[in-house]
Amino acid sequence: MPEIADVSVVIPTFNEVDNVAILVERLETQLNGCRWEALFVDDDSTDGTRDALMRLAQEKPHVRMIHRIGRRGLSSAVVEGILSTTSPYVAVMDADLQHDEALLPGMLETLRTSDAEIVVGSRYTEGGGVGDWDKKRIMISRFAGWLARTVTKSDLTDPMSGFFMLKREAFDRSVRNLSKEGYKILLDIFASSPAPMKFKELPYVFRLREHGESKLDSLVIWEYMVLLLDKLVGRYVPVRFLMFGMIGSSGVFVHFAVLFVCFKLIAIGFTVSQGIATFVAMNSNFFLNNILTYRDRRLHGMRLVWGLLSFYAICGLGVVGNVGVARMVFEGMTSVSSSYGWAIAGAAGALISVVWNYVVTAWVTWRRRH
Ligand code: GDD
Ligand code: MN
Repeated sequence: MPEIADVSVVIPTFNEVDNVAILVERLETQLNGCRWEALFVDDDSTDGTRDALMRLAQEKPHVRMIHRIGRRGLSSAVVEGILSTTSPYVAVMDADLQHDEALLPGMLETLRTSDAEIVVGSRYTEGGGVGDWDKKRIMISRFAGWLARTVTKSDLTDPMSGFFMLKREAFDRSVRNLSKEGYKILLDIFASSPAPMKFKELPYVFRLREHGESKLDSLVIWEYMVLLLDKLVGRYVPVRFLMFGMIGSSGVFVHFAVLFVCFKLIAIGFTVSQGIATFVAMNSNFFLNNILTYRDRRLHGMRLVWGLLSFYAICGLGVVGNVGVARMVFEGMTSVSSSYGWAIAGAAGALISVVWNYVVTAWVTWRRRH
C-alpha cells in the first residue's frame, strides 16, 4: 500500500499527451525524498492524454487522475483536484513543463519551516523571468498583475502565477468563497481569503512550451474581467446576469444600427426594417451570450441550432411579458397621474423581460448538462 502523501501536486490537463509522462518523471526526481502524489485533472482531452494518464496511474501508485466530462476550466479543475486530496500540503502546477518543478522541494521546506501559508512561484521577483516573451505579452501580463494587486490588496509580484504550494488549512479558509471563474486560481484564493494570506515567493523562469499548445485564447482577458467583477459585486448580483444584461444592452445598439441602415440608407419600409433589426439583434445577443456568458457551456453543432430556436421562443415570450407588465404598470400610473409613468412602466417591462430571458434561457438554452 502506498503511504499517505505529505504533498499532493494537482495538475490540470487538457491535451497534454506528450508532456504528462515527462512531468511525472521529473516529479519523481524532485520529490524523491518525501511522500507525494500527482493528481491530474483532465477535462476529457481529445489527444489521448487520458489514456496516457491511465497507464501512468496503473504503473505508479503515486499517480492519480480525475476525469471530467462536459466541463472546461482551469480554476474549477484545480479546485476539484485539491478537494479530492487529503495531504497537508498541496501544490498546483501546469502539465506543460513550463513551471520549474525544481522549486517544489524549496516550497515544501518553506511551508514546513516558516509561518508562510502559501509559497508562490514568481516570474517577476529577483531571479525569475519569462523566457522569450515578446514585449506585448510582458506588458499585458504586467498590467493584469497590477490590476490584480489592486483587487487583492496584496503585494504579490506575480499574482497571475499558476504555480504555488499551500497549506490545506489556508485553502479550506478560502474554498467556500471561490469564484472558480476562468484560470486565475491563485488570485481567486487570495481574494477569497477572509484574512490576508501569509505568503512567500520563490523565483523561477517560465519555460517555453515544447509540446502541445496553449489553451488560453483571447477570451482570457474577458474571463479575467469576469473574475474581478465577481470578486467586487458577485455577492450582490450573479455575474452571469450582469453579462447577460450588458449583452442585452449591446443588442439595443445593434438594433438601431441595423434599423438605420435598412430604413435610412437602403430605404426598405419601416415595418420590414424593424423586423430585420429585431432579428439581427436577437441573433447577436444569442451568439455573444454563447461565446461570453456561457463560454463554459458553449453550444456547438445541432445543439447550437436547437439553442438558437429555444432562444427565439423564450425571448419572444419575453416580449409578450414585457408589454403586458409595462401596460399594467402604465395603467396603474396614469391613475395617479405621474408624468414619468410611461418611463417607469417601460423600465418595469424591460426589467421583467431581462429577468425572464435570463432565468429561462439559463435553464433551457444553456442548461448545465453534468
Ligand atoms: N483540466 C483542464 N481544463 N486543464 C486545462 C484547461 C481546462 O479547461 N485549460 C488549460 N488547462 C491546463 C493545460 O493543459 C496546462 O496544463 C495548464 O492548464 C495551463 O494551460 P496553458 O494553456 O499552458 O496556459 P499558459 O501557459 O498560457 O498559462 C499558464 O501559466 C501562467 C503562468 O504561471 C497558466 O497557469 C496561467 O494561469 C499562469 O498565469
Ligand atoms: Mn502553458
